[in-house]
Formats: sequence, C-alpha cells, structure tokens
Amino acid sequence: MSGLFRDSFPFFKENPDSIYFDSASTSQKLKTSIDAMSDFYSKSCSNIGRASYRLSNAAGMRVEEVRSRAAEYIGCEASDVIFTKSATESSNLVCRSFLPVVLHEGDNVLTSSLEHNSAFLPLKTASERAGAHLRVISPGKDDGIDPDEFEKSIDSNTKAAVFTCASNVSSTKIDYTELCRICREKGVISILDATQLLAHKRINVKSLGCDFLFFSAHKMYSLSGCGILYAKREHIDAMEPLLYGGGIVETLSPLSIVSGNRKFEAGSPDVGSIIAFGAALDFLFENQDAIPETERKLCKKLREGFEDLKDKCRLIGKADSEIPVASFTVPGISDYDITSYLGASDISVRSGRMCAHTLFDALGIDGCIRVSLGCYNTEEEISRFFDCLNRILKKFSV
Ligand code: ALA
Repeated sequence: MSGLFRDSFPFFKENPDSIYFDSASTSQKLKTSIDAMSDFYSKSCSNIGRASYRLSNAAGMRVEEVRSRAAEYIGCEASDVIFTKSATESSNLVCRSFLPVVLHEGDNVLTSSLEHNSAFLPLKTASERAGAHLRVISPGKDDGIDPDEFEKSIDSNTKAAVFTCASNVSSTKIDYTELCRICREKGVISILDATQLLAHKRINVKSLGCDFLFFSAHKMYSLSGCGILYAKREHIDAMEPLLYGGGIVETLSPLSIVSGNRKFEAGSPDVGSIIAFGAALDFLFENQDAIPETERKLCKKLREGFEDLKDKCRLIGKADSEIPVASFTVPGISDYDITSYLGASDISVRSGRMCAHTLFDALGIDGCIRVSLGCYNTEEEISRFFDCLNRILKKFSV
C-alpha cells in the first residue's frame, strides 16, 4: 500500500494488511524514534544531571537539545519547557501546583464539555479544593466550543479556563486563537490541551499568548513516557514542585531547590523516551507542510464517505477539524458490535466514551465509534474501511 510516510513506521511493514485508525489514542511509532531509544540504551545509557562523566554529559546535552527543539516547535524558549511523563501529568502539575496559588473560595474556573478527562478532572479537583465553582459550557453549534458562550460565561471572579485545541471526539474545529484572545482580554489564565493537535500542526504559544499548554510525545509518532508542559516564566516562578526528590536540591538544610523549569523534574527522567521524541520532532519539522497536505486529502475522503452514509451514521461534529478525526453513532447498532466486526477485518478503531465523559453526558449518548488517522494512513484504507462498514450495516439491516 502506498503512502508518503508509510515506510518510516515499522508497524506497517510488520502488519501490511492491518488498518490502524486509532492514532488519537496513540500513534504508530517512527523507526527513527525506536532506533534513537534503542541506540541510547544499547550504546550510551546513563542517567543525567547527577554526574560529570562523558556519558552522562552527552545524554544530558541530548535531552537539552530535545527541550530546545520542542520549544521551537511551539514557539517558546527552552526554559519555558518542562518534561513530564505524560500530558496527564502536565495537566495535573498545573492544576495542583499553580491553581492553588490563584484560586480562592468564591472564584470560578471555566471549561467546556468537550474536554478529555485528563484536563477536566484535575481542574474539577482543584476547584473543589479551593471552594471555587466549576463552570462547564455545553457543546455549541455542531458540537464545538462557541466563543460567544465562552466569553459570556466569564465574570470578574473567573480565574482560569481550560480548553482543548482539538477535540479527541468531535470533528468540529476549535477556535483556540479566539478563546485565547478572550482570556487575555478578560485577564483569565488560559490552560490549553494541545494533545490531539500537535502531530498534525504546529502552534505558537507566544502569538497565542496562552499561559500554559500541555501535550504528549506518544501521540506525535514517538514513544510513551514523555509529556511536555509549557508555562509562562512568571508562572514557573510562582509554582511549587509537585514532586520533590533527587536532581532539584541545592541545599537540604535549610531546603533550597533549583529555580526555573528544572524544579519540576525531580527524579531520574525517562531519558530514552525524551531522546526518541527528538527524532519525532525532526520528522515533524521536516514534514511540516507535507503532513497537513496529506491529511487534508484523507479528511476529504473521510468526509465524503460519511456524507454518503449520512442517513445511517450520525457524525459528532461538523467534519472541519484541523485533525483527521471522525466519531459517529449508528442508531440501532451498538458501538461495540460495530468495532468488533471492524476488528474482525483487522481494522482498529476505538469505541466507547473516549475518556471524554462530560461530552457524552452533554450529548445524551452512551458512546460512539471513532476513526482517527495519522499521516501514514491512505485513501485506499479509508475506502476499505467504508466497504467494511457498509457490509456491517447491511448485515444489521440498517
Ligand atoms: N486520549 C486518548 C484517546 O482519545 C486515550 O483515545
């Protein structure tokens, strides 16, 4: 099967007939990322930041190079980038270490019902601890986030807002630039979940003027174990570490810890995963025009396929997302039945609530079936998917 980027991913060589449509959950992995991790552990393994021998210095330098590359990818300084183990940890770090500094009883925080649990739950917990009110705006027209509704929900007690740059379920584009503008104008701290967006498109945190942004490497063609948090320098200074331990201590008694982004990186980091992410960033930089170009064609094909089935399948969202995702339900057939039949043809798609429970509660449905693509997918695979889906619909007499 042809595909511009296919050969860069060993999975497809090992599974030539398998259709992987679950990249929003985790992407397939680049050979260069796998090799970078393997080379590091086979040839130059050492811990970093604790010793001054050659291997440790070299590994430490590679980690800092990745920090700089990640910063360049999102338009900030390396000193604004904090390595965590996942997007979930990044989101928890903001909500546990930063929000208690600014949030007091009687305040409120704003979010949308499109949020992933990793963004929603830490915010909910932080607001409950502070005695603050959590405002959740319902899905707007076409299951997106309506900027007017967002703006109307802000008052003088609104301290922070958490919102996604691209939903992991709804296929409606989120105008995060406008949401950031509203936050800046109203003096509300903006915390952005860019987890679904960054494999498909770069972002510039300085132009957006956001306060925090988090994401994870494993959805960007790299390996699990590396998350990123961008934070404005003033917030980095205001925050306490979430984790205390080795690597951040200057003196123990009295306790003095390092300043800046490193104070959030106590403990031995996942060096191999960070180095692997460096290789994925090289790929993303190199193909920053070709990836969106390829995915635009895939999105068009996907949209056309669902347009043909519009009497049978209900799409969540308007199909204008910046990422190749399409979630749908088929009235009369359970999600599980459909994904099981697709699975029997080795087509991997996810069903259920996609870790976005608030959205399904708001939509009043139990779950959906989600097709989420990566740059390695092909139009031919989409055709095969729709052929198979049509056979299933026929079987259930839909
Ligand atoms: N966040 C992942 C998903 O949407 C797990 O599937």
